[in-house]
Amino acid sequence: MTTTAGAPIADNQNSLTAGPRGPVLMQDYQLLEKLAHQNRERIPERVVHAKGWGAFGTLTVTHDISRFTRAKLFGAVGKSTPMLARFSTVAGELGAADAERDVRGFALKFYTEEGNWDLVGNNTPVFFIRDPLKFPDFIRTQKRHPVSHLRSATAAWDFWSLSPESLHQVTILMSDRGIPVSPRFMNGYGSHTYSFWNDNGERFWVKFHFKTRQGHRTMSNADAATVIGQSRESYQEDLFGSIEQGDYPRWTVFVQVMPELDADKTAYNPFDLTKVWPHADYPLIEVGVIELNRNADNYFEEIEQAAFSPSNIVPGIGFSPDKVLQARIFAYADAHRYRLGTHYEALPVNAPKCPVHHYHKDGSMKFFRTPTGAADAYYEPNSFGGATQDPSVAEPPLRLSGDADRFNHRDGNDDYSQPGALFRILGAEQQRRLGQNIAASMKGVPAFIIDRQLGHFDKADPAYGQSVRQALLELDIEFTA
Ligand code: NDP
Ligand code: HEM
Repeated sequence: MTTTAGAPIADNQNSLTAGPRGPVLMQDYQLLEKLAHQNRERIPERVVHAKGWGAFGTLTVTHDISRFTRAKLFGAVGKSTPMLARFSTVAGELGAADAERDVRGFALKFYTEEGNWDLVGNNTPVFFIRDPLKFPDFIRTQKRHPVSHLRSATAAWDFWSLSPESLHQVTILMSDRGIPVSPRFMNGYGSHTYSFWNDNGERFWVKFHFKTRQGHRTMSNADAATVIGQSRESYQEDLFGSIEQGDYPRWTVFVQVMPELDADKTAYNPFDLTKVWPHADYPLIEVGVIELNRNADNYFEEIEQAAFSPSNIVPGIGFSPDKVLQARIFAYADAHRYRLGTHYEALPVNAPKCPVHHYHKDGSMKFFRTPTGAADAYYEPNSFGGATQDPSVAEPPLRLSGDADRFNHRDGNDDYSQPGALFRILGAEQQRRLGQNIAASMKGVPAFIIDRQLGHFDKADPAYGQSVRQALLELDIEFTA
């Protein structure tokens, strides 16, 4: 055993004191170092998605999609790419119970030969908002009230009832799928529209789907209360435990692909994060399978320090005009620089498994040599053999137009058809439970807010509004609409 400076340690049991009953001497640097390190063991938790569970695995391609994308990870059937997955709840803090009703994060990092591709999605195909300016407001309503320091059902339903675009996601959240038994038993979705581009310079819009091969398994509110009473860590136990036992969870990977110019024709905005693309219009195309087969050797180093960002794309995969995606391209890397430090991408779990060349200099945690390719090449262009650009990986140009303005994103937007379609898919039993889950979450919410929200349920499907009213009556919760 040594100090952090490498000097051997003679005694790790007893502090250095002036006599057996005397005070500790200032020169006991071993003690000082030990206490100082403990004081620095915590880093800020993620501002959202703080509670999480992760594992390593592989993506294996089973079907050729190279006609859509030149991304090398999809280059050949049978090709396998190492990856990391981190699942999470959105609102709970680092110590939150796992089995809470919430959307689950479904974040994937693929260590490809052309850099890391991060697909930072959820277990739902849509989201609560379609304009990123509303994200911090929305998250306020999910986190603790500034005075009571409690979660506030009033804030949540106030915001949702004033934001009809949330109805689709709220319906999924309150349905059976709102509390999966563990991450193994839920689907994942890239949620946003991204793009693919191929060797011919053609662009396609794309949505990613990951269907659980373990089947869907969910918990009722009552099941979840029992589980949480027994263990707050049910997801970690299930995911870590199954991988330790060699029972590796798998998801089938699909894409929906839309030719670039179709985006001008669809009745709905295909870049609206509150909408899905109906399967009948854009069928699922099978791509491959992801399998998680290795637990982290150290949770903090490899899961807590994992930094996923929608800004991490690779040649052949691109962004889309989705407004929320555009904001996320900023938000994540910014969060990592704050939460982990300037050189977070050089941490082992985040470091690409391909050569890296850049000219970013110095800063805290600079524990590696700047990988420019040559010692005298510390700027670019240079005459000393430093790394240079490669025009062959340029994305095809994207035509954009329009007046710069703050357009009302609710004008003429149909927020009700797709939630209504989902409600009708659920069938009578699930519809009843949906109503009950919603009513249960409305305890303590003022009647005028409930009334406003009932109007949204009615517009999606009158039977939806009725099932919630019935459940509100059963729980004796006041409403007038
Ligand atoms: P389809 O009839 O082709 O498929 C229905 C979809 O609903 C399936 O993907 C199914 O997932 C999913 N589903 C079933 N129960 C739930 C639930 N409680 N929460 C979330 N998803 C659920 O549907 P369409 O494509 O015509 O779309 C109809 C509605 O289905 C949409 O408005 C949307 O709400 C929902 N949906 C659509 C998706 C899409 O990408 N088109 C994706 C997910 C949901 P599974 O196959 O895993 O059982
Ligand atoms: C985590 C911002 C929307 C999925 C985070 C983090 C931030 C953030 C700052 C913490 C990052 C970290 O510290 O590591 C935003 C903003 C959004 C938005 C500003 C909208 C404007 C979304 C959407 C999805 C999503 C639409 C899914 C479709 C996730 C996931 C994580 C996360 C899965 C956790 C990643 C991990 O496991 O480390 N988000 N988010 N977010 N977000 Fe978002």
